[in-house]
Amino acid sequence: MTLLEAKNISIEYKTEAGVLRAVEDVSFSLAVGESLGLVGESGCGKTTLAKSIIRLLAKNGRISQGQMLFKGQDLVKLSDEEIRKLRLKEIAMVSQSAMNALNPVYTVGDQLIEGICAHTTLSRKAAHARAVEVFKMVGLEEKRLRSYPHQMSGGMKQRAIIAMALTLDPALIIADEPTTALDVVVQDQILQQIIQLKKAINGSMILITHDISVVSETCETIIVMYGGKIMEQAPTKVFFKQQVHPYSLGLNNAFPSITEIGEQLISIPGAPPNLLEQQAGCRFQARCPFADDTCRKEQPPLAPVGEGHLSACHYNYKADYFRQESKKPQTWQAVARRIEAEGIQKGGA
Ligand SMILES: Nc1ncnc2c1ncn2[C@@H]1O[C@H](COP(=O)(O)OP(=O)(O)OP(=O)(O)O)[C@@H](O)[C@H]1O
Ligand SMILES: [Mg+2]
Repeated sequence: MTLLEAKNISIEYKTEAGVLRAVEDVSFSLAVGESLGLVGESGCGKTTLAKSIIRLLAKNGRISQGQMLFKGQDLVKLSDEEIRKLRLKEIAMVSQSAMNALNPVYTVGDQLIEGICAHTTLSRKAAHARAVEVFKMVGLEEKRLRSYPHQMSGGMKQRAIIAMALTLDPALIIADEPTTALDVVVQDQILQQIIQLKKAINGSMILITHDISVVSETCETIIVMYGGKIMEQAPTKVFFKQQVHPYSLGLNNAFPSITEIGEQLISIPGAPPNLLEQQAGCRFQARCPFADDTCRKEQPPLAPVGEGHLSACHYNYKADYFRQESKKPQTWQAVARRIEAEGIQKGGA
């Protein structure tokens, strides 16, 4: 059963320099109990897309196109009051800056209980009992409810934030880089915890991360975004064996736990596109080792390449060749040289 379906969602920010197209024509669907991993480099639109689901975009941002169907209801069309009612209860977000979101002047317990009372008809006593329960679920002792944020470690604070997201058994949890600020051991513990909890409440999850190896362990489906668009979308198991898009292949090289032992880590040369500028061709062409004139002129459609597997490249049929070549450092070194030469040319013109 489908829980969430995004249909052709585009999102813009108004800025002094013009309209910034942060997300363009993104569609996906998420089944009940399923997890979706959203990956891509910084600035590719992950947080923007996630926040748009529960309409938490910054004031200068707006959904300019599309539908966001949650249990069949279009969230884009709901009134502010209606969407507020859904937050936490139906859709809970652990946001990227969550650790700073705890109020320093109240105990964590008070903040948790306040949240429960604001969204339910529970008495304070019952809310307290629920707070104790969710703290236990995330591995925090009851006495921690009396702690102020500054009395907790980063890992504890993050657990408390996750507890808050879980209090009302939401159908959908959106976790935006939930562990990035933590050290690796704690990161892993917390991820495992999120997975278990998601199962326990039979919830669905959207997990945002720039580390694609995290997705391989946690999500059924992966979406790779770049420059506000979906580059590739696939069942996770298929993806990690058979990436098709050159951008996915580039990301793969950059993450240690995905590359086989002995393989060299190679980052993709260059930087993501400026989203204030309209682009004619493929968003990734400037950094793509395989780009040609067609790629510079025409935007490739997101086309099926297998069961539930889509890739937005003109040359999806060359995937075997891409997979081979993208493993070689010289493939990406050539891109670096090309970018440098173009820079010199532009600078000299
Ligand atoms: N309030 C805003 N006003 C203008 N531009 C914004 C605003 N918020 C985000 N952007 C821009 O929108 C684009 C997408 O940003 P977003 O934060 O969604 O990316 P992200 O993939 O979550 O990146 P990160 O991995 O760094 O969190 C970026 O170009 C960013 O600069
Ligand atoms: Mg983000």
